[in-house]
Amino acid sequence: MKIRPRRLRTTAVLRESVAETHFRTNQLIQPHFVIEDENGVQPIDAMPGIARMGIKKLVERVGLDLDLGLTSVLLFGLTEHKDARGSSSTDPKGLIPRAVRALRERFGDKLIIATDVCLCGSMDHGHCGVLKDGKVLNDETLPILAAMALAHAKAGADIVAPSDMMDGRVTAIREELDRSGYSDTALLSYSTKFASAFYGPFREAADSAPKSGDRKSYQMDHRNAREALRESLLDEAEGADMLMVKPALSYLDVIKTIKERTLVPLAAYNVSGEYSMVKAAAARGWVDEKLVVREILNSIHRAGADLLITYHGREAREKGWL
Ligand code: PBG
Repeated sequence: MKIRPRRLRTTAVLRESVAETHFRTNQLIQPHFVIEDENGVQPIDAMPGIARMGIKKLVERVGLDLDLGLTSVLLFGLTEHKDARGSSSTDPKGLIPRAVRALRERFGDKLIIATDVCLCGSMDHGHCGVLKDGKVLNDETLPILAAMALAHAKAGADIVAPSDMMDGRVTAIREELDRSGYSDTALLSYSTKFASAFYGPFREAADSAPKSGDRKSYQMDHRNAREALRESLLDEAEGADMLMVKPALSYLDVIKTIKERTLVPLAAYNVSGEYSMVKAAAARGWVDEKLVVREILNSIHRAGADLLITYHGREAREKGWL
């Protein structure tokens, strides 16, 4: 046999020298769940290792993460006040604007602050938009999302990230930001977001499960790959600075296709259920967590994601898994 691919797998240094996939720590984005109680730390049952934190604890934690090279956060707010208009989400003095200000004050431009823009956490019914007669209304939701994004931008967010899946939200948010003097605030669209059972643990973590029905009238059907591309291309055309595929692991084909068809950075969200399954199997000794996490993150990057939003980031970095 003349051709033997195994030759290049002979030693660890040789394998390392021909490895095709590498990502940097600063391509990881660490999500955080922020709560009103400033000093509160509430571990999340379904997500071992992840806790909801008040602003003081969050600032401490992010300081430690920065020392590990984790330079990006994605913030989710758990507001106590919920109503039919999601009014706490647009409050300039609300939870997320306060968290953004505290982080900015402490870390200046060393930290990249992204905020999730969605109404499910502030709506009493738990849907991502205005609900009327059992329907989630698209156009009525847009101005609320735009106001929410503006409140985050004013507080100093670098990136606003709409995750609601209403049509036209990128245009609505971009116009509102530009009109108000925030033309430099970047927009990371959750452009291709599937209605996924892998969000289960997040909905416990963020107390954002819909009280009735499901999200299938706005989030995508997991069977559709062409529509997946269309959704992202539409958001790019509307002016999104970055796109996203979510979840990641069941959608590596989608990541690859979008990557080939766009010129803006692409993120992938390795979501709560994907995280919790690894944790559950590792706790039973069924998989080697370090190796599985490495394989997962490398796979998502290999498929084409430039940015990896993952709950594994901090632990993987801290324990030297990457
Ligand atoms: C809010 C939102 C969700 C996630 C991120 N933003 C939940 C949902 O759409 O139901 C999921 C994140 C995760 O599972 O880690 N719309």
